[in-house]
Amino acid sequence: MAEAYDFPETGTVVDVGDGLGGLLVEILRRRPGLGGVLFELASALPDHVLGELGDDSRVRAQVGDFFGSVPPADVHVLEYVLHDWTDEQCARISRNCRRALNEGGRVVVVDAALPSGNEPHFGKLLDLMMMVAVPGGERTEADFARLFDQAGLRLTRALPTDGSLSIVEGVPRCGARPVRC
Ligand SMILES: C[S@@+](CC[C@H](N)C(=O)[O-])C[C@H]1O[C@@H](n2cnc3c(N)ncnc32)[C@H](O)[C@@H]1O
Repeated sequence: MAEAYDFPETGTVVDVGDGLGGLLVEILRRRPGLGGVLFELASALPDHVLGELGDDSRVRAQVGDFFGSVPPADVHVLEYVLHDWTDEQCARISRNCRRALNEGGRVVVVDAALPSGNEPHFGKLLDLMMMVAVPGGERTEADFARLFDQAGLRLTRALPTDGSLSIVEGVPRCGARPVRC
């Protein structure tokens, strides 16, 4: 993911629900001019791995609830987060990201985006597991486009990675409030 997406050289990336912060560490290792925030529930933060970056003032951890609000960012990353939640809950999380985006910012979702056809795909197995465990599930690119639309975002691209995950990018939709197009 850190390799596959063209993160900006400067600004702030907020990894929303990054767990221990491993993805954020990998992103910041590749972008010395970028700052980062690991945004998580208090219960998940004690074991974070941000120390792997050494004494790095670019990065910090912040406790919070993504259903309330998220910190401002140039890029909000949601990896393996939306598949835990219903469309309504995902729209709320995504809307909170849109509201907190800096000018020119983007929301980047990383999930096992399902192909629309009948071919085998790891995401379909994951979808079954999610169906049993949580209210959410895996989504197709069209599902993400609809979900983004509800959150005032426009899907700009869906990129494959070397693994079974896809990167789905959204930007604020013209006409959405507050307007940032
Ligand atoms: C499936 S894990 C994904 C972790 C990480 N992004 C990854 O790719 O491995 C979902 C994460 O969302 C966090 N989370 C759940 N509810 C949250 C909330 N309301 N606000 C912030 N983070 C939350 C959990 O603590 C957990 O670390």
